Amino acid sequence: MSDERTSGIDRVGVVGLGTMGAGIVEVFARAGLSVVAVDGTPELAERGRGFLERSTGKQVQRGRLSEADQQALLERVTFAHELTALADVDLVVEAVPERMEIKHDIFGTLDGIVRDDAILASNTSSLSLTEIAAATARPERVVGMHFFNPAPVLKLVEVITTILTDEAVVTSVRDLAERLGKKPVVVRDRAGFVANALLIAYLARAIRTYETGHVTREDLDAAATAGIGLPMGPLTLSDLIGLDVVKEVCDVLYAATHDPASAPPALLQQMVAAGRLGRKTGRGFYDYA
Ligand code: CAA
Repeated sequence: MSDERTSGIDRVGVVGLGTMGAGIVEVFARAGLSVVAVDGTPELAERGRGFLERSTGKQVQRGRLSEADQQALLERVTFAHELTALADVDLVVEAVPERMEIKHDIFGTLDGIVRDDAILASNTSSLSLTEIAAATARPERVVGMHFFNPAPVLKLVEVITTILTDEAVVTSVRDLAERLGKKPVVVRDRAGFVANALLIAYLARAIRTYETGHVTREDLDAAATAGIGLPMGPLTLSDLIGLDVVKEVCDVLYAATHDPASAPPALLQQMVAAGRLGRKTGRGFYDYA
């Protein structure tokens, strides 16, 4: 492992181009890094390109980005549907669905593809990073790099470490997050890390409150925005995060702490079972045309 590589991360990969992955691609490309963006099929890779074009297109419309800069940004990103496209990147961020068997499969495969000195990062919000790292022969080069939704806007990046993570890797990833204009915080692998450990019991309480029927969804959300000064009400925020993700983090926190405040409310479980996952499916607590 050369020092240049540890300190200079210039070429990155992102695996999984859903809401979070596409946002993370945008963050890297905006910061001038060259990005290889991978999803499982040519169609999903194209959908990822569409997200990036639309999101940067909105910034052009708002006068925040020139057309020439948008073009340059898009040219920094290559889309692919095979993990082998990541053979020469310095770091990969995985942002695929939150299922341990999928993460294991991807980390195990990536381990055999990327250079020995490359860093493997996961954007997991609920799974154990230690278990993910165990799928590789390089657990000391595996970290969490947990972005917040919408990734291009929110500043926090939780840098998750395990008992095996190399200190130099932590420093590299923290420096990278700062280069992206983010605020990194370093957290040891633990259910909910820091931000979700604070947030999820509040969202679960809001859903339970709504479930009692004594307040409308709009008024409940207004209590948080107009009364407590939060940027979004908890039901709107749950729809933004994705109700499946909220439920997964509830499950993990509840299993780890047995704190009833983190237990997934019945309504949340039913909405997930019914496929009402929030914005991404067009329907959650609110409807999105
Ligand atoms: N992609 C790119 N840019 C976006 C965006 C997106 N998805 N959404 C909003 N923006 C940009 C807008 O373009 C706008 O940029 P300019 O100021 O340059 O024009 C800026 O963000 C503000 O957007 P809006 O004016 O449309 O709306 P707003 O001021 O109401 O802000 C918000 C929207 C940023 C989403 C704000 O409401 C907010 O911060 N909400 C709370 C979000 C939050 O708490 N997220 C954390 C969820 S927890 C999580 O993600 C972790 C997990 O593991 C579950």
